Parts: sequence; structure tokens; C-alpha cells
Amino acid sequence: MKAIDIIHAEHRALGAIVQAFRFVLDGIRAGTLQPDFVLLDALIEYITEVPDKLHHPKEDDVLFVKILEAVPEAAALIDKLKADHLHGAQRTHALRAALQAYQAAGPAGFAAFEAQALTYIDATWKHIGIEEQELLPLARQRLAPQDWAGIDAAFAANKDPWSGPTGEYRALFSRIVAMVPAPHGVGPA
Ligand SMILES: [Fe+2]
Ligand SMILES: [Fe+2]
Repeated sequence: MKAIDIIHAEHRALGAIVQAFRFVLDGIRAGTLQPDFVLLDALIEYITEVPDKLHHPKEDDVLFVKILEAVPEAAALIDKLKADHLHGAQRTHALRAALQAYQAAGPAGFAAFEAQALTYIDATWKHIGIEEQELLPLARQRLAPQDWAGIDAAFAANKDPWSGPTGEYRALFSRIVAMVPAPHGVGPA
């Protein structure tokens, strides 16, 4: 896979997890799903670990650097996307604290947890949208073949967008799929 395909695939993987998260929140709010704190904890672990350790470093350290070299006027866009990465990490930490507060408070704590989760989910969709609609088209237009050779080589280790290059997130991903009810997973209804 080439770098752009890998970024698209990782955005789809993260998007699917975020959609599943949204589905679980909707179910709890509607009373059709019982809160499963093991699942909520696994979802937060995935959105904390995979973007920070797998996806964002490739963007920050490779793709953004090459784009800045070739397209200096993209500096403001890149600054915004890098700031999003930092805020995303802060939001997932806040989300973990909110989950603990929810678990301690019981049903009365759901609204505050959901608000925190929706803030993260909305920000994630917006961020992916800007990268897909602004950053990647710019990269495609303006980077030269020799730029892509370097970027593709740096991305080549990542073959599986769900599980990480050495499968380090495979078990976590499988656990989530097993717990989320259909249609977003295969867990109990
Ligand atoms: Fe990003
Ligand atoms: Fe991204």
C-alpha cells in the first residue's frame, strides 16, 4: 500500500470505531443498551492508543514535514492539524476521567460522559474531514515523485490499519468487535 492509501485506510478504521462509539452512546441514552464499562474502556483505549502511537506520528513526522517543504503556504493548515493532534490526546485523557466519574455516579453520570465523548467524536470527524478534503488533495497535487518515494518508504511498515504493523492492537480491536452489538459489531444485542 502507498502512503495515501494507508492514511485513507487508517481514517476508515478510526471512523468505524468512532461510529461504533456513537452507536453505543445512542443505545445507552435510548435505554436499548445497558452500559458496558468494559466496552467503553476498550473504545477509549483504542482511540487513545492507535491515533497517538500509529497514525499521528506518521502524519506529524513524515507527511506534514514533506508537505511543508514543498508547499510553504500550507503552514497554517499544518499548524491547525498538529494542534488537533495535541487536543485529541488531551480529550482522550479527559474522556477516561469522565468514564471513571460516570462509573462512580451511575446513570446520573451518563450525560456528562456523553457530552465529553461527543466533543471528541465531533472533533475527530472534523479533523479527518480536513485531512481528506484539504490536506491529501494538496499533497497529491504538489508533492513530486521523489517526495512520495520517501513518504511511502516511511509508511511501508504499516500494513494493517486496524491492528498496527506488528498486530499490537489486534486483540483490542477484536475485543471491541466482540462486544459492540450489530450492525457495528458482533456482540450481544
Ligand atoms: Fe491527523
Ligand atoms: Fe489523519
